Amino acid sequence: MDERNFQTAEPFRIKVVEPIKKTTRAQREESLKKAQYNAFRLKAEDVYVDCLTDSGTSAMSQNQWSALMLGDESYAGCKSFYKLEASVQDVFGMPHVQPTHQGRGADYIMALYYAKPGKYALGNMHFDTFHGNAEILGAYPVDCVIDAGLDASSGSFPFKGNIDVAKMQKIVDENGEDSVSVIIITVTCNNNGGQPVSMQNIREVSEFAKKYHIPLVIDSARLAENAWFIKTREPGYENKEIKEITREMFSYAETATMSSKKDGLVNIGGLIVTRNEDFFDFANQQAIVHEGFITYGGMSGRDMEALAVGLQEACTDDYLEYRVGQVKYLGDKLLEAGIPIVEPTGGHGVYVDARRFFPHIPQHEFPAQRLVVALYQEAGIRAVEMGACAFGSKDPETGEPIWPALELMRICVSRRVYTNNHLDCIVNALAYIYQHRDEYKGMKMVYEGKITALRHFTAGFELL
Ligand code: F0G
Repeated sequence: MDERNFQTAEPFRIKVVEPIKKTTRAQREESLKKAQYNAFRLKAEDVYVDCLTDSGTSAMSQNQWSALMLGDESYAGCKSFYKLEASVQDVFGMPHVQPTHQGRGADYIMALYYAKPGKYALGNMHFDTFHGNAEILGAYPVDCVIDAGLDASSGSFPFKGNIDVAKMQKIVDENGEDSVSVIIITVTCNNNGGQPVSMQNIREVSEFAKKYHIPLVIDSARLAENAWFIKTREPGYENKEIKEITREMFSYAETATMSSKKDGLVNIGGLIVTRNEDFFDFANQQAIVHEGFITYGGMSGRDMEALAVGLQEACTDDYLEYRVGQVKYLGDKLLEAGIPIVEPTGGHGVYVDARRFFPHIPQHEFPAQRLVVALYQEAGIRAVEMGACAFGSKDPETGEPIWPALELMRICVSRRVYTNNHLDCIVNALAYIYQHRDEYKGMKMVYEGKITALRHFTAGFELL
């Protein structure tokens, strides 16, 4: 019997609270009309429980808040940078650290170096910001996640973020090893459910990359959650420390980028971490022109202090058990209510399968977007679409729409922010919508903006 068996609650108590506003249905209808039924265009103050993203929305600990006061705002060589550098080296086991203003700043510099015009950039599922940068640079980003990761109704598989090495092999066989300029593993895999990548898969991908002399990069926004899944799901890791696991993950890669707005437990910031000295020199120079001097890269001294502490807090068992456990709590309750979700639940949110939720709404009528709108209408809860609108594209020659494999609504859980009572509100509202699902019809997109890949941020819709 474990002496902690009864200690199943949050590993913190609450010292500061932020009020949130309740709204009437009429107010929410009005807000939706003004926002043209796009959750990104709602005012945050009109949202009751905000599950749009887990990015930059964490609650900081008292140690992080007090670290802010130690911020050294010197332009060059500030103390706060060296604290951050030491914390990052400890978690990643890599020598060189360049801060950036957020993850996409790191993605941009990484893409400039590793994504080559006319060459493939392979990965499990590239996040939008690398994908967009790679396309602008004339590279071909290709997702090679395992098939189970592309089917939201496939059963429970512990590592649905894994790369299918055979898919990469096919590309190399058909186009030659020189056709691939980089492989990027995103941990956890955000686009298909916050699904983890196993250590075994990272190892296999690194062997493949070595064989063909292709650099391996890890996009590590949710590195601690991925390490927790390895610890709890992969044989041989159950007794390892989280930081031993993260260091092993990164031992197989030459470079990592990180949006520290997730597992850094801070509201802003990003990182480039590498053992490739040539790339580090390049990243320093690019940072100077695009981000900020080498020792701050767009972050203030106080933000670097908070990140140095947050990274360490995120890599502890008590925190991760609570964190991943809370997301699972939401997933389990939704399953009990019969709601179709991607299984097993991922690290940072629950992804509802809108195809199965609204089988009568065809994909070109945006079922996942309709579900986002319904959840706000009924309960003032904001989630985000990851389907026909966000991931849809167009044939470059004919302009015909191409619809994505996944049609999901992502419900993100912010770190250390909401209680399970808030999550119960989501369950109750979704259960109600599910019971009345036949009454909901699809949507029509009436505005999308110039760049299709970015249309979900600005699109306007009408209800059918
Ligand atoms: N990589 C991954 C895997 C991400 O999820 C994100 C951001 C980024 C890079 C970019 O980082 O926002 O700091 O510039 N994801 C957020 C989300 C926006 O809602 O999933 P950033």
